[in-house]
Amino acid sequence: MSNPVRKAVFPVGGLGTRFLPATKSLPKEMLPVVDKPLVQHAVEEARAAGIEEFIFVTGRGKTAIEDHFDRSAELRGLLEVRGRDDAVEAIEAWLPATGSVAYTRQREPLGLGHAVWCARHLVGDEPFAVLLADDLVVADPPCLSQMVDAYRRTGGNVVAVMEVPAGHVSRYGILDVASDMGRLVAARGLVEKPRVGSAPSRLAIIGRYILDPGIFDRLGNAAKGAGGEIQLTDALSAMLGSTPFHGFRYDGVRYDCGDKVGFLHANIALALARPDMGDEVREIVRDIARTL
Ligand code: UTP
Repeated sequence: MSNPVRKAVFPVGGLGTRFLPATKSLPKEMLPVVDKPLVQHAVEEARAAGIEEFIFVTGRGKTAIEDHFDRSAELRGLLEVRGRDDAVEAIEAWLPATGSVAYTRQREPLGLGHAVWCARHLVGDEPFAVLLADDLVVADPPCLSQMVDAYRRTGGNVVAVMEVPAGHVSRYGILDVASDMGRLVAARGLVEKPRVGSAPSRLAIIGRYILDPGIFDRLGNAAKGAGGEIQLTDALSAMLGSTPFHGFRYDGVRYDCGDKVGFLHANIALALARPDMGDEVREIVRDIARTL
Protein backbone atom coordinates (compact mmCIF):
# COMPACT_ATOMS: atom_id res chain seq x y z
CA MET A 1 0.00 0.00 0.00
CA SER A 2 1.50 3.37 -0.94
CA ASN A 3 2.26 5.83 1.83
CA PRO A 4 -0.30 8.68 1.88
CA VAL A 5 2.24 11.01 3.56
CA ARG A 6 5.50 11.42 1.62
CA LYS A 7 6.87 14.70 2.91
CA ALA A 8 7.84 15.93 6.36
CA VAL A 9 8.57 19.45 7.56
CA PHE A 10 11.01 20.04 10.42
CA PRO A 11 10.65 23.60 11.77
CA VAL A 12 14.04 24.38 13.27
CA GLY A 13 14.03 28.17 13.04
CA GLY A 14 13.24 29.00 16.68
CA LEU A 15 15.57 30.87 19.01
CA GLY A 16 15.71 28.23 21.74
CA THR A 17 15.83 30.90 24.46
CA ARG A 18 15.08 28.39 27.22
CA PHE A 19 18.42 26.77 26.52
CA LEU A 20 20.65 29.85 26.59
CA PRO A 21 23.60 30.10 26.81
CA ALA A 22 23.98 26.68 25.05
CA THR A 23 21.89 27.92 22.12
CA LYS A 24 23.81 31.15 21.60
CA SER A 25 25.75 29.53 18.76
CA LEU A 26 24.41 25.95 18.77
CA PRO A 27 20.95 25.20 17.33
CA LYS A 28 18.70 23.73 20.01
CA GLU A 29 17.81 20.92 17.62
CA MET A 30 21.48 19.84 17.55
CA LEU A 31 21.57 19.18 21.30
CA PRO A 32 22.33 15.48 21.68
CA VAL A 33 20.23 12.98 23.57
CA VAL A 34 23.01 10.60 24.62
CA ASP A 35 25.01 10.84 21.36
CA LYS A 36 22.44 11.69 18.70
CA PRO A 37 21.14 15.22 17.96
CA LEU A 38 17.45 15.78 18.60
CA VAL A 39 16.88 16.54 14.92
CA GLN A 40 18.39 13.21 13.87
CA HIS A 41 16.04 11.37 16.23
CA ALA A 42 13.15 13.15 14.46
CA VAL A 43 14.44 12.44 10.94
CA GLU A 44 14.91 8.76 11.77
CA GLU A 45 11.35 8.61 13.07
CA ALA A 46 10.07 10.21 9.86
CA ARG A 47 12.02 7.83 7.69
CA ALA A 48 10.68 4.82 9.61
CA ALA A 49 7.18 6.15 8.82
CA GLY A 50 7.90 6.06 5.08
CA ILE A 51 8.72 9.76 4.58
CA GLU A 52 10.65 10.31 1.35
CA GLU A 53 11.29 14.08 1.38
CA PHE A 54 12.68 15.97 4.36
CA ILE A 55 12.08 19.73 4.47
CA PHE A 56 13.86 21.87 7.05
CA VAL A 57 12.71 25.38 7.87
CA THR A 58 15.87 26.89 9.29
CA GLY A 59 16.91 30.34 10.47
CA ARG A 60 19.97 32.35 11.41
CA GLY A 61 22.73 30.36 13.11
CA LYS A 62 21.35 26.98 12.05
CA THR A 63 23.89 25.93 9.44
CA ALA A 64 25.18 23.14 11.72
CA ILE A 65 21.93 21.31 10.88
CA GLU A 66 22.67 21.44 7.14
CA ASP A 67 26.20 20.18 7.74
CA HIS A 68 24.88 17.36 9.89
CA PHE A 69 22.67 16.07 7.05
CA ASP A 70 25.48 16.23 4.51
CA ARG A 71 28.39 13.94 3.82
CA SER A 72 31.66 14.94 5.45
CA ALA A 73 34.34 13.74 3.04
CA GLU A 74 37.18 15.02 5.23
CA LEU A 75 35.97 13.32 8.41
CA ARG A 76 35.17 10.13 6.52
CA GLY A 77 38.70 10.09 5.04
CA LEU A 78 40.33 10.55 8.46
CA LEU A 79 38.21 7.81 10.02
CA GLU A 80 39.01 5.42 7.17
CA VAL A 81 42.74 6.02 7.54
CA ARG A 82 42.38 5.14 11.24
CA GLY A 83 40.40 1.99 10.47
CA ARG A 84 37.33 3.32 12.30
CA ASP A 85 34.64 1.67 10.14
CA ASP A 86 32.23 1.78 13.09
CA ALA A 87 32.52 5.57 13.24
CA VAL A 88 32.10 5.90 9.44
CA GLU A 89 28.86 3.96 9.87
CA ALA A 90 27.80 6.34 12.69
CA ILE A 91 28.26 9.44 10.52
CA GLU A 92 26.75 8.14 7.29
CA ALA A 93 24.49 5.10 7.58
CA TRP A 94 21.43 7.16 8.56
CA LEU A 95 21.82 9.98 6.01
CA PRO A 96 18.73 10.47 3.84
CA ALA A 97 19.41 9.92 0.14
CA THR A 98 21.05 12.82 -1.62
CA GLY A 99 18.44 15.12 -3.14
CA SER A 100 15.76 14.12 -0.64
CA VAL A 101 16.60 16.92 1.82
CA ALA A 102 15.54 20.52 1.20
CA TYR A 103 16.05 23.70 3.18
CA THR A 104 14.21 26.96 3.29
CA ARG A 105 14.83 29.82 5.67
CA GLN A 106 12.40 31.56 7.97
CA ARG A 107 13.72 35.12 7.96
CA GLU A 108 12.27 35.94 11.36
CA PRO A 109 11.11 33.52 14.07
CA LEU A 110 7.47 34.61 13.92
CA GLY A 111 6.11 31.38 15.35
CA LEU A 112 5.52 27.74 14.49
CA GLY A 113 2.61 28.52 12.13
CA HIS A 114 4.79 30.93 10.20
CA ALA A 115 7.64 28.38 10.02
CA VAL A 116 5.28 25.77 8.53
CA TRP A 117 3.93 28.33 6.04
CA CYS A 118 7.51 28.98 4.86
CA ALA A 119 7.55 25.38 3.54
CA ARG A 120 4.44 25.82 1.34
CA HIS A 121 6.18 25.72 -2.05
CA LEU A 122 8.31 22.74 -1.10
CA VAL A 123 5.30 20.78 0.17
CA GLY A 124 2.86 21.69 -2.63
CA ASP A 125 -0.64 20.26 -2.73
CA GLU A 126 -0.35 17.05 -0.72
CA PRO A 127 -0.75 15.97 2.91
CA PHE A 128 2.44 16.30 4.93
CA ALA A 129 3.86 15.62 8.38
CA VAL A 130 5.34 18.15 10.80
CA LEU A 131 7.78 16.98 13.46
CA LEU A 132 9.11 19.21 16.22
CA ALA A 133 12.53 17.82 17.03
CA ASP A 134 12.43 19.10 20.61
CA ASP A 135 9.62 16.65 21.33
CA LEU A 136 11.38 13.29 21.45
CA VAL A 137 8.94 10.39 21.34
CA VAL A 138 10.16 6.91 22.17
CA ALA A 139 7.68 4.45 20.73
CA ASP A 140 7.48 1.15 18.90
CA PRO A 141 6.22 1.46 16.22
CA PRO A 142 7.41 5.07 16.05
CA CYS A 143 4.83 7.78 16.81
CA LEU A 144 4.58 9.08 13.23
CA SER A 145 4.09 5.53 11.87
CA GLN A 146 1.16 5.08 14.26
CA MET A 147 -0.26 8.41 13.08
CA VAL A 148 0.07 7.54 9.38
CA ASP A 149 -1.95 4.36 10.07
CA ALA A 150 -4.64 6.42 11.80
CA TYR A 151 -4.57 8.99 8.99
CA ARG A 152 -5.41 6.28 6.43
CA ARG A 153 -8.78 6.01 8.22
CA THR A 154 -9.43 9.68 8.99
CA GLY A 155 -7.75 11.89 6.36
CA GLY A 156 -7.79 15.61 7.20
CA ASN A 157 -5.68 16.98 10.04
CA VAL A 158 -4.34 14.61 12.71
CA VAL A 159 -2.42 15.79 15.78
CA ALA A 160 -0.69 13.60 18.38
CA VAL A 161 -2.14 14.17 21.85
CA MET A 162 -1.39 13.15 25.40
CA GLU A 163 -3.22 13.56 28.71
CA VAL A 164 -1.51 16.20 30.89
CA PRO A 165 -2.08 17.15 34.55
CA ALA A 166 -4.73 19.89 34.96
CA GLY A 167 -2.05 22.30 36.19
CA HIS A 168 -0.02 21.96 32.95
CA VAL A 169 -2.72 22.81 30.36
CA SER A 170 -1.48 26.40 29.98
CA ARG A 171 1.73 25.09 28.33
CA TYR A 172 -0.05 23.40 25.39
CA GLY A 173 -2.70 23.57 22.67
CA ILE A 174 -5.68 21.75 24.23
CA LEU A 175 -8.47 19.87 22.40
CA ASP A 176 -12.16 20.52 22.86
CA VAL A 177 -13.42 16.95 22.43
CA ALA A 178 -16.55 16.17 20.36
CA SER A 179 -16.32 12.38 20.60
CA ASP A 180 -13.77 10.13 22.21
CA MET A 181 -13.18 6.85 20.36
CA GLY A 182 -10.20 5.70 22.43
CA ARG A 183 -7.08 6.09 20.31
CA LEU A 184 -8.82 8.60 18.05
CA VAL A 185 -10.57 11.70 19.32
CA ALA A 186 -12.76 13.87 17.10
CA ALA A 187 -12.35 17.50 18.14
CA ARG A 188 -14.77 20.39 17.77
CA GLY A 189 -12.16 22.96 18.70
CA LEU A 190 -8.82 23.71 20.25
CA VAL A 191 -7.46 26.40 22.49
CA GLU A 192 -3.82 27.52 22.57
CA LYS A 193 -2.40 27.73 26.09
CA PRO A 194 -5.69 28.07 28.05
CA ARG A 195 -5.62 29.32 31.61
CA VAL A 196 -5.57 26.60 34.27
CA GLY A 197 -9.19 25.95 35.22
CA SER A 198 -10.65 27.07 31.89
CA ALA A 199 -9.34 24.34 29.56
CA PRO A 200 -11.93 22.29 27.63
CA SER A 201 -10.02 19.03 28.37
CA ARG A 202 -6.60 17.76 29.46
CA LEU A 203 -5.72 16.44 26.00
CA ALA A 204 -2.61 18.32 24.90
CA ILE A 205 -1.14 18.52 21.41
CA ILE A 206 2.51 17.46 21.15
CA GLY A 207 4.94 18.07 18.31
CA ARG A 208 3.68 15.59 15.71
CA TYR A 209 1.13 16.55 13.07
CA ILE A 210 -0.23 15.28 9.76
CA LEU A 211 -1.71 18.23 7.93
CA ASP A 212 -3.93 18.89 4.95
CA PRO A 213 -2.26 21.29 2.49
CA GLY A 214 -5.31 23.57 2.86
CA ILE A 215 -3.58 24.80 6.03
CA PHE A 216 -1.25 26.97 3.94
CA ASP A 217 -4.10 29.29 2.88
CA ARG A 218 -5.14 29.68 6.51
CA LEU A 219 -1.56 30.34 7.63
CA GLY A 220 -1.10 32.88 4.82
CA ASN A 221 -4.01 34.91 6.17
CA ALA A 222 -3.19 34.33 9.83
CA ALA A 223 -2.99 37.10 12.37
CA LYS A 224 -0.63 36.89 15.33
CA GLY A 225 -2.10 34.87 18.17
CA ALA A 226 -0.97 33.83 21.66
CA GLY A 227 2.48 35.22 22.54
CA GLY A 228 2.47 37.51 19.47
CA GLU A 229 3.34 34.51 17.23
CA ILE A 230 1.58 33.01 14.21
CA GLN A 231 0.14 29.87 15.75
CA LEU A 232 -0.41 26.59 13.94
CA THR A 233 -3.32 25.86 16.26
CA ASP A 234 -5.19 29.01 15.11
CA ALA A 235 -4.98 27.79 11.49
CA LEU A 236 -6.17 24.33 12.56
CA SER A 237 -9.12 25.95 14.35
CA ALA A 238 -10.00 27.91 11.22
CA MET A 239 -10.25 24.64 9.26
CA LEU A 240 -12.72 23.03 11.67
CA GLY A 241 -16.01 22.27 9.95
CA SER A 242 -14.44 22.04 6.50
CA THR A 243 -11.65 19.48 7.18
CA PRO A 244 -11.81 16.46 9.52
CA PHE A 245 -9.77 17.06 12.67
CA HIS A 246 -8.65 14.29 15.01
CA GLY A 247 -6.42 13.93 18.01
CA PHE A 248 -4.47 10.67 18.15
CA ARG A 249 -3.43 9.12 21.46
CA TYR A 250 -0.11 7.57 20.47
CA ASP A 251 1.40 4.66 22.33
CA GLY A 252 4.83 5.78 23.60
CA VAL A 253 6.74 8.13 25.89
CA ARG A 254 7.29 11.76 24.99
CA TYR A 255 10.11 13.85 26.41
CA ASP A 256 9.88 17.65 26.25
CA CYS A 257 13.46 18.33 25.22
CA GLY A 258 12.78 22.05 24.69
CA ASP A 259 12.79 22.24 28.47
CA LYS A 260 15.97 21.66 30.50
CA VAL A 261 14.47 19.19 32.93
CA GLY A 262 12.69 17.27 30.15
CA PHE A 263 15.95 17.16 28.22
CA LEU A 264 17.85 15.73 31.20
CA HIS A 265 15.06 13.21 31.74
CA ALA A 266 15.38 12.03 28.12
CA ASN A 267 19.15 11.70 28.40
CA ILE A 268 18.96 9.60 31.56
CA ALA A 269 16.10 7.41 30.27
CA LEU A 270 17.72 6.72 26.89
CA ALA A 271 21.16 6.12 28.42
CA LEU A 272 19.65 3.61 30.86
CA ALA A 273 18.06 1.78 27.93
CA ARG A 274 21.34 1.48 25.99
CA PRO A 275 22.99 -1.93 26.09
CA ASP A 276 26.48 -0.38 25.78
CA MET A 277 26.16 1.91 28.82
CA GLY A 278 22.91 1.18 30.68
CA ASP A 279 24.54 -0.75 33.56
CA GLU A 280 27.18 1.90 34.14
CA VAL A 281 24.64 4.73 34.09
CA ARG A 282 22.35 2.77 36.44
CA GLU A 283 25.19 2.60 38.97
CA ILE A 284 25.78 6.34 38.69
CA VAL A 285 22.08 7.12 39.15
CA ARG A 286 21.93 4.79 42.20
CA ASP A 287 25.01 6.49 43.70
CA ILE A 288 23.50 9.92 43.25
CA ALA A 289 20.15 8.74 44.67
CA ARG A 290 21.91 7.45 47.80
CA THR A 291 23.22 10.94 48.55
CA LEU A 292 19.80 12.63 48.22
P1 UTP B 1 9.50 26.30 20.56
O1 UTP B 1 8.61 27.42 20.89
O2 UTP B 1 9.61 25.17 21.52
O3 UTP B 1 10.97 26.75 20.24
O4 UTP B 1 9.13 25.77 19.12
P2 UTP B 1 11.79 28.06 20.48
O5 UTP B 1 11.00 29.29 20.28
O6 UTP B 1 12.99 27.86 19.62
O7 UTP B 1 12.26 27.85 21.98
P3 UTP B 1 12.22 28.77 23.28
O8 UTP B 1 10.81 28.70 23.80
O9 UTP B 1 12.67 30.16 22.90
O10 UTP B 1 13.21 28.10 24.20
C1 UTP B 1 9.06 24.39 18.74
C2 UTP B 1 9.80 24.14 17.43
O11 UTP B 1 9.37 25.07 16.44
C3 UTP B 1 10.47 25.75 15.88
C4 UTP B 1 11.60 25.63 16.91
O12 UTP B 1 12.86 25.68 16.27
C5 UTP B 1 11.32 24.30 17.58
O13 UTP B 1 11.95 23.23 16.89
N1 UTP B 1 10.13 27.16 15.59
C6 UTP B 1 9.53 27.92 16.54
C7 UTP B 1 10.43 27.68 14.36
O14 UTP B 1 10.96 26.97 13.46
N2 UTP B 1 10.14 28.99 14.12
C8 UTP B 1 9.56 29.80 15.04
O15 UTP B 1 9.31 30.99 14.74
C9 UTP B 1 9.25 29.25 16.29
